Amino acid sequence: MATALVTGAGRGLGAAFAARLARDGHDLVLLDVEEDAVERVAGAARGLGRTVEVLVADLTDEKDLAAVEQRLGDRERPVDLLVNNAGVQGEGQFVGVDVGRLQAEIDTNITAVMRLTRAALPAMIERRRGAVVNVASFAGYLAGRGDAYAASKSWVLSFTDTVAASLTGTGVRALALCVGQLQVRMRPAPEGASRSGLDPDAVVDKCLADLVRGRTLSVPGWRYRAVVDALELPRRTLRTAARLAGRGR
Ligand SMILES: NC(=O)c1ccc[n+]([C@@H]2O[C@H](COP(=O)([O-])OP(=O)(O)OC[C@H]3O[C@@H](n4cnc5c(N)ncnc54)[C@H](OP(=O)(O)O)[C@@H]3O)[C@@H](O)[C@H]2O)c1
Repeated sequence: MATALVTGAGRGLGAAFAARLARDGHDLVLLDVEEDAVERVAGAARGLGRTVEVLVADLTDEKDLAAVEQRLGDRERPVDLLVNNAGVQGEGQFVGVDVGRLQAEIDTNITAVMRLTRAALPAMIERRRGAVVNVASFAGYLAGRGDAYAASKSWVLSFTDTVAASLTGTGVRALALCVGQLQVRMRPAPEGASRSGLDPDAVVDKCLADLVRGRTLSVPGWRYRAVVDALELPRRTLRTAARLAGRGR
């Protein structure tokens, strides 16, 4: 039995994480900006006998973010698994997007992920157990397409690599979930978007199985995995070579 905190738990992939973790016997802290949505998900988990705490918070709001950080650092009510799932996707090329929208995208996709990870880890390291899952995207490998979302998810991939390396020997793990197109679409869904894509429940299954295996990157869907494996090979080879040469920087 452990407690998991999931951000963006009101719908989509976050709701799938919450449902699966509840079925697995975890107590939950569910966070979302929209109270009705997250309460629905919380109600289903309570129906399975789980203890569920709901945090209605906007991760772009400094006061809300600080309150979540405080919750994660609470030694009396430890959180064993943090799932940084909440994310937003702005529309359009970088130069055409309103700067306020860009900032909200960076605040949600980058700043909140960094701050919540940093807040959760010390208590996990003290207990020598725990894990952080950061939800990235296959778009993180496509930063060249010109939108801020892809760049933000590229950061999530690198950041999680850094965190995982810094956790070596602590008993605590970090994993980036590199998600391709899901059946559920992020809001607002791009116009004309197809409903085909990965099943969120299968994505969560694969992610949690990879976490148990000690992996630092989970890529659901064989097509996505084939591409990512090919892209990651030279990078990992370079990193190993740099480490062996004693020039890790
Ligand atoms: N869907 C895909 O095809 C896809 C593909 C690759 C990666 N991903 C990643 O997977 C994750 C989940 O995506 P999804 O499709 O499930 O998204 P979604 O359906 O849009 O759900 C995201 C949830 O996060 C909440 N949220 C957004 N901004 C927030 C904030 N500032 N503070 C608190 N909660 C906030 C949303 O609340 P509101 O609805 O009220 O805004 C919503 O409940 C994201 O990180 C996304 O980048 C998704």
